[in-house]
Amino acid sequence: MSINSLGYIGVYSSDLAQWAEYGTQVLGMENVTPHIDDNTGNLYLKMDERPWRLLVIPSEQDRFGFCGWECNSAQALQDTVDRLRSAGVEVAEASAGETALRRVQRLVKFRDPTGNQHEAYWGVVADFRRLVSPVGVRSFVTGKLGMGHVVLPAPDFDITVGFFRDVLGFGLSDLMNIRFTDDPAEPNKRLWFMHCNSRHHSLGLFEMPHPAGCVHLMLEVENIDEVGRCEDRRIAHGVPLSATLGRHANDQMVSFYMKSPSNFDIEYGAEGLCVDNWDNYSNFESTVPSYWGHDFSVGQG
Ligand SMILES: [Fe+2]
Repeated sequence: MSINSLGYIGVYSSDLAQWAEYGTQVLGMENVTPHIDDNTGNLYLKMDERPWRLLVIPSEQDRFGFCGWECNSAQALQDTVDRLRSAGVEVAEASAGETALRRVQRLVKFRDPTGNQHEAYWGVVADFRRLVSPVGVRSFVTGKLGMGHVVLPAPDFDITVGFFRDVLGFGLSDLMNIRFTDDPAEPNKRLWFMHCNSRHHSLGLFEMPHPAGCVHLMLEVENIDEVGRCEDRRIAHGVPLSATLGRHANDQMVSFYMKSPSNFDIEYGAEGLCVDNWDNYSNFESTVPSYWGHDFSVGQG
């Protein structure tokens, strides 16, 4: 397998002050922009001993930007590039300046068949300084599991799933096939989950377009109390709720969903499933997203 984890994400924002407030005071990340040698106006948010995990780029748009996928060696990244090019995918080599800004050894960019933007890299430059969360979050669940998971739009569903499976080497974790109403005329939509490490999924693909370029980003914390404390901070800062607290049927995450300033949702959760041996794991097709909770109707108003 060539990609090992979701290393970072980049988002676009017309209001970096709003993202700085949200990222630090609601999510509990650390604003490390002053420590990063970058005078382009970007905002950098830190979650762990990595220099940063969430990059906010000034823009006239408020939307998701790209995923940064980590390879664990120069050869693994080269293998990834070779497979992309063999599949006819255009791979762009980032400039030396941009590679240095991402704080990696080599950075490449490409798009999946739906058009979602991706980056891949190896060799993070790190001083291993610990997270100092301004609201006291002790740690996020990251490390070998990566920063969390993303769910991306994939209206060209079969070809996009095939791309991640056959070209990038992701494994299929579980299937979901859902309607949002009881109306039998509403077609079912597929939402499939894929892994590149033991986290149940680092990537979800949803069979619908999405105006923000991402359905949600999941961030995982140590326990349910940390989830509850974030819910308190969400209320205190007036951030709209997208879905109530619930436990997912597939990755067993206990989480709630709220809006982000870049118009996609953030899922904030704990107790997500890890699978150490995928050979012993049986795929399911879920017809419901959750055992209980996760009422998305609250976010529709
Ligand atoms: Fe999720």
